[in-house]
Amino acid sequence: GLKIATIGGGSSYTPELVEGFIKRYDELPIRELWLVDIEAGREKMEIVGNLAKRMIAKAGLPIEVHLTLDRRAALKDADFVTTQFRVGLLEARAKDERIPLKYGVLGQETNGPGGLFKGLRTIPVILDICKDMEELCPDAWLINFTNPAGMVTEAVLRYSNIKKVVGLCNVPIGIEMGVAKLLNVEHSRIRIDFAGLNHMVYGLDVYLDGVSVKDEVIEKLTDPANSSFVKNIEGIGWEPEFIRALGVLTCPYHMYYYKTRQMLEKDIKNAETEGTRAEVVQKLEKELFELYKDPELNIKPPQLEKRGGAYYSDAAVRLITSIYTDKRDIQPVNTVNNGAIAGIPTDSAVEVSCVITKDGPKPLAVGDLPVAVRGLVQQIKSFERIAAEAAVTGDYNSVVLAMAINPLSPSDTISKQIIDEMMEAHKEHLPQF
Ligand code: NAD
Ligand code: G6P
Ligand code: MN
Repeated sequence: GLKIATIGGGSSYTPELVEGFIKRYDELPIRELWLVDIEAGREKMEIVGNLAKRMIAKAGLPIEVHLTLDRRAALKDADFVTTQFRVGLLEARAKDERIPLKYGVLGQETNGPGGLFKGLRTIPVILDICKDMEELCPDAWLINFTNPAGMVTEAVLRYSNIKKVVGLCNVPIGIEMGVAKLLNVEHSRIRIDFAGLNHMVYGLDVYLDGVSVKDEVIEKLTDPANSSFVKNIEGIGWEPEFIRALGVLTCPYHMYYYKTRQMLEKDIKNAETEGTRAEVVQKLEKELFELYKDPELNIKPPQLEKRGGAYYSDAAVRLITSIYTDKRDIQPVNTVNNGAIAGIPTDSAVEVSCVITKDGPKPLAVGDLPVAVRGLVQQIKSFERIAAEAAVTGDYNSVVLAMAINPLSPSDTISKQIIDEMMEAHKEHLPQF
């Protein structure tokens, strides 16, 4: 049987993952699931871990659930390591979201200054996990869900010896499900050719039963009600002329780049009324953990769908299953480009449709991206690379450079001001600086 180690086991998403393992048990015979957390997350892990045990007992499966603060014990001989941790917890995310707003810049978990600082906090931890993996489970696959997933995957590829790494996001599967709903058809009939970067991914074509329906789907994206596919971003619709001429499907995060001012104004207003997304999520999380405590509860509660990471279990468990069984189906994941997307370094991480084999994801060749999107994708990749390097070296100048070249930054000077305030606010989680 298989051993899975899940780092950040106290996450409210753990019931998602467990539900996925239960559903696919016939193909993926897991014997041990080890949830790992740190002291600050011990109580959450115990609550969610006990729910996991009840879910598994209800399903009548022989999966042992272990809860531990000892990461090395969890990693020892693991077959798959999944990561879903948040350095500094939601409190740190709230700072990432609030501070940039004061300077008239987007405050967001994975984009702009917030994404940069989440990366700076996270990358040293993931590289430490990689070192432990080299020693304790050198053959394991690392399935990274921890954000910013693109930058984190880039850092693992460049600065660790772990080559069996896949970055995962629920946005592509969320778009597939959303498109299926828009067309009122089963998810399995929809296929999308994805290419780009994490949270900067485009659908180059969309097929229903193998026939392109791209133009029809693009028309539907002009309706605000259809323009986001995740709960954490409220879609505000696309100008028909723009989206038609762009000619590819966007992901919800593109609204921050192509509708920058309107998204910022909306976020400033939200921050003043209901709070930033992290502050909303803090309340949601409290409600979720109250539910999780109920000893009668033995399923994933539907309230979890209010979180942005919906369908995470489908994405994660279908990926692990296809690696384990050498299924060779097509799934969008973050992996080494290897020439699939022209103009992006061959050794960088990209988010692209891949054939999933026992030897990992094999990207489908894309070639040149459409001319209208190529430059933005390259610019974000450069931002991720410089940020990842800065996270490793602790070089302050590189942090300023990364921020200043990001399209969401209005100037080098404002970038530096934001960075200085955020460095101070997050200093306990930035030992490299
Ligand atoms: P969370 O705040 O509940 O954190 C999860 C757990 O990580 C906590 O219990 C915390 O104690 C633990 N943790 C913190 N530092 C740790 C460390 N050094 N080692 C081990 N555990 C540690 O977070 P969440 O909202 O459940 O999200 C978890 C992660 O998943 C975040 O990084 C988030 O951005 C990411 N996420 C990714 C996607 C995606 O599409 N890739 C979707 C949703 C969430
Ligand atoms: C999205 C993304 C994640 C993101 C999350 C936020 O859909 O794919 O990468 O971090 O959901 O959700 P939350 O509920 O925490 O705001
Ligand atoms: Mn994501």
